[in-house]
Amino acid sequence: SNSPVKVAVTGAAGQIGYSLLFRIASGALLGPDTPVQLRLLEIEPALKALEGVVMELDDCAFPTLAGVEIGSDPNVIFDGANLALLVGARPRTKGMERGDLLSANGAIFTGQGKALNDHAADDIRIGVTGNPANTNALIAMSNAPDIPRERFSALTRLDHNRAISQLATKLGVPVTEITKMTIWGNHSATQYPDLFHAEVGGRNAAEAVGDQEWLENTFIPTVAKRGAAIIEARGASSAASAASATIDAARDWLKGSAQGDWISMAVASDGSYDVPEGLISSFPVTTKNGEWEIVQGLEIDDFSRGKIDASVKELQEERDAVKDLGLI
Ligand code: NAI
Repeated sequence: SNSPVKVAVTGAAGQIGYSLLFRIASGALLGPDTPVQLRLLEIEPALKALEGVVMELDDCAFPTLAGVEIGSDPNVIFDGANLALLVGARPRTKGMERGDLLSANGAIFTGQGKALNDHAADDIRIGVTGNPANTNALIAMSNAPDIPRERFSALTRLDHNRAISQLATKLGVPVTEITKMTIWGNHSATQYPDLFHAEVGGRNAAEAVGDQEWLENTFIPTVAKRGAAIIEARGASSAASAASATIDAARDWLKGSAQGDWISMAVASDGSYDVPEGLISSFPVTTKNGEWEIVQGLEIDDFSRGKIDASVKELQEERDAVKDLGLI
């Protein structure tokens, strides 16, 4: 049908929003034939800046943009939403303890989870980009009991794309040669980018690299610490690449992942690969018609097992902390 798809974006006046909104509005998410209505959530003090962004959206005269609503009440902005991209979050500021960060974000994601539960469309899908993304998604999911838990995901696609780019550069091949990349675990420095199941032109990537030392001491830390390297170089955190990954993840979820390949997505574990049930952890997944499925049957060697377990342990600690705070 040609009625507009309602895409809600939170933190819309932020850095990522400034890249993300224009790409969604131009058709990068749903294609040139699907009109999109943007529903943009911000906190009250940022609404004026958001009005300026909307003026620029108007000035692009995008043929696929079928309207923009803005506001600070999630109950209004999530009304009828088919897709919600939860980008806005409370950043860690100086002197803030980890518990303070979790409770500040907890307040945001409990409220947004409830508002989605009560007002979003029946086919709602929710992607969380705002950090700590996995645990924020867990909080939203836990506060939206009427929304199937398969509809929640957290973004590890940026890590996935970074891993593809690093590997392609190392081997001197185009990124299109790389398939079956996997990020396991948390979107944090403990994440595990896995080359043992990735392929380069159909050949096993770890074998093609043939250098365990590079894999362990260069590749993994470069991917895991890329966010910090960008802050160091740019003086601001990654925004355009995060927006691009947010689009890639949502587009593949709704439209399907490529045949013969898979993507990385943090979703509620069903116990696959011994990741405790219910944790929002990154897995290799295939997607089709708006549904995801965890790729099954991959052999996990001791090295990979140790890396996955370490990241999952961190997710469990985050879950315990938000449980103690009464957020889930
Ligand atoms: P930013 O600080 O430029 O923008 C965040 C926006 O969210 C601000 O405009 C703020 O007013 C808004 N906001 C805060 N609380 C809100 C609420 N309750 N409702 C609606 N909006 C609210 O930050 P930036 O650079 O756009 O990043 C956004 C988030 O994405 C951060 O948490 C960042 O850590 C995370 N991130 C995640 C990545 C990933 O791969 N998962 C990659 C890069 C960033």
